[in-house]
Order: sequence, then C-alpha cells, then structure tokens
Amino acid sequence: MQTQDFMLRIVYLNGAFLPLSEAKISVLDRGFTFGDGVYEVIPVFNGNIFRVEDHLNRLASSLAGLNINIGISRDKLKSILVELLRRNPATGNQQLYLQVTRGVTERDHIYEDNVTPTFFAMCKAITKRDFSAGVCVITHEDIRWKYCHIKATALLASVLLKNLAKATANCLEAILIRNGMVTEGASSNVFIVADGIIKTPKKDNNVLPGITRDLMVELLRDSGSLCQETDINEQELQQADEIWITGSTIGVVPVVTLDGKKIGDGKPGRYWHQARELYETYKVNGPHTLQQRDYVV
Ligand SMILES: Cc1ncc(COP(=O)(O)O)c(C=O)c1O
Repeated sequence: MQTQDFMLRIVYLNGAFLPLSEAKISVLDRGFTFGDGVYEVIPVFNGNIFRVEDHLNRLASSLAGLNINIGISRDKLKSILVELLRRNPATGNQQLYLQVTRGVTERDHIYEDNVTPTFFAMCKAITKRDFSAGVCVITHEDIRWKYCHIKATALLASVLLKNLAKATANCLEAILIRNGMVTEGASSNVFIVADGIIKTPKKDNNVLPGITRDLMVELLRDSGSLCQETDINEQELQQADEIWITGSTIGVVPVVTLDGKKIGDGKPGRYWHQARELYETYKVNGPHTLQQRDYVV
C-alpha cells in the first residue's frame, strides 16, 4: 500500500517529532473512548504564528475547564510549534493543530487525578478558498452541550450540523439558535449589521471565544465603528443588512443567503468590505509576536 504524502508529514506526539504514519496512541486513550480532550487551531500567516498568546490562553482555559494539567510550559509549547513549522517547510499559510486528551485509563467515566495527558500537534496547509463573493448558510437549533466556551474535541453536533449545511444547497455553515437567540456558527462566530451598528453575541457558555471574533471587535472599535457585544434574536438575524462569519482559517466571510433568502441585496455589504480591509491589514502589519524565523529555542 502506498503511503499518502500527508502521512509523511512530521508531527509531535508525547515528546517526540515523528512522521504522521508512525504516530500511534492507545485505543484506551480517553480522547478515543470519551472524546475527553481539548484542541486549538492556530493560523500561521507568512510565518507569523497569529495571536499565539490568545490561542494559548484559550487552550489553558479549555484545559482548566476539563481539569486537565498538560504539564508543559508555555515556552516549551511555543518551541514545539516553531519546530513543527521548521520540520515541515511550506510556502503558503499554515494551521497548527494542537490536541490534548486526558490520557490513557481503564475505560471508566471516573478518572484519577494523576493520569498523564496525551499531547499531539501537527501543521497543515490552510486551503486557499475565495469567499469574497459571499457564502450561503442555514440556521438550525443549537443542539450542542452547554459548555461551548470550552474548545472540546467532542464535536459530533458540529460535524452533523456542518454536513447538514453542506447537504442543503452546499451551504458553508449552520448558524445556531438557542432559545430564540443566535449563539454562533457550528465552527465560526457570527456578526450582523443592522442600521449601521455591528453586533456579535456576547461571550458566555454558549459561545466559543473566537480569536478572530475578539480581534474584529478590537479592530472595529479602534477604527471608530460601532460594534456591540449583545444578544441577537433570530428575527434580527433574518432582517440583518449584513451577516458575517469569522474563524481562524476562513477569516471574515460575508454571508449572502440565509436559509435560501437573500441578505441585503444578496452581495457582500459595505461594512464587510471595511472589516475585511481591517483584518487583512492587521494580518500583514499587526504585532507579530511569534515569527517562525525569529524564535530562538
Ligand atoms: C464553534 C466555533 N466557534 C467559533 C470559532 C472561531 O474561532 P477562532 O476565530 O478562534 O478560529 C470556531 C473555530 O473553530 C468554532 O469551532
């Protein structure tokens, strides 16, 4: 059997760099038996590990949410990320994937405190996709659990929702509604524009604190735009002049149809054009805290 190219990629598993084809974990790893773990996806734009402190802060808070002690210092984590990029030379933008599970135990819901976590990290290309003409989305009841602020690996609801969206006229995303209120997308945060005000749901246990979301709130406010973190009900979503979704590997994406109905005039709106400009400029000129080439281990 031929090894696929991606299986030759060098990944990091529990202290060692090795080809993906050789990275193995136990079937009793709780990530496998219970989905008992958390993850991060960090984009790397032109060698800059983007907003790395924010991503590692979120990883730390997800781990705390599951009471997992990764036992690896932040400096060590950063050096692993840099080393992964060094060992997998690539020309385009990359994404770093980090996963920490509680580790290997007898299959039992109850865990002991002294389990050694499993830590896996890899990098791969960010697929270039042009969303500038806008994307179609569906709405759906938010069928996920109530700890959505934790970036947990147990993503079954999101997997079903994204596939349902795809099966519905090739939609990119499902925007989720809980008790009549917009929470977020199955794998993105949501912004709307109504009467010149930009709004995004406030952060609570129903929403993942998206790094791109937080960055956009910051950039929009710095630029003098009105941007509110507030409740958004389903009707406001349906009647919005603009809708955007945000995420690390997609950026800021305009939505042009919601459940088959046009948003605004069915084209990306003027506020989105400004937001995209702010985001793209920041990607190039923003503070680059961890450049692959600068990092000395
Ligand atoms: C549920 C959910 N919300 C929001 C986001 C966007 O977060 P970020 O901007 O940090 O990628 C993601 C990203 O995967 C997600 O899975």
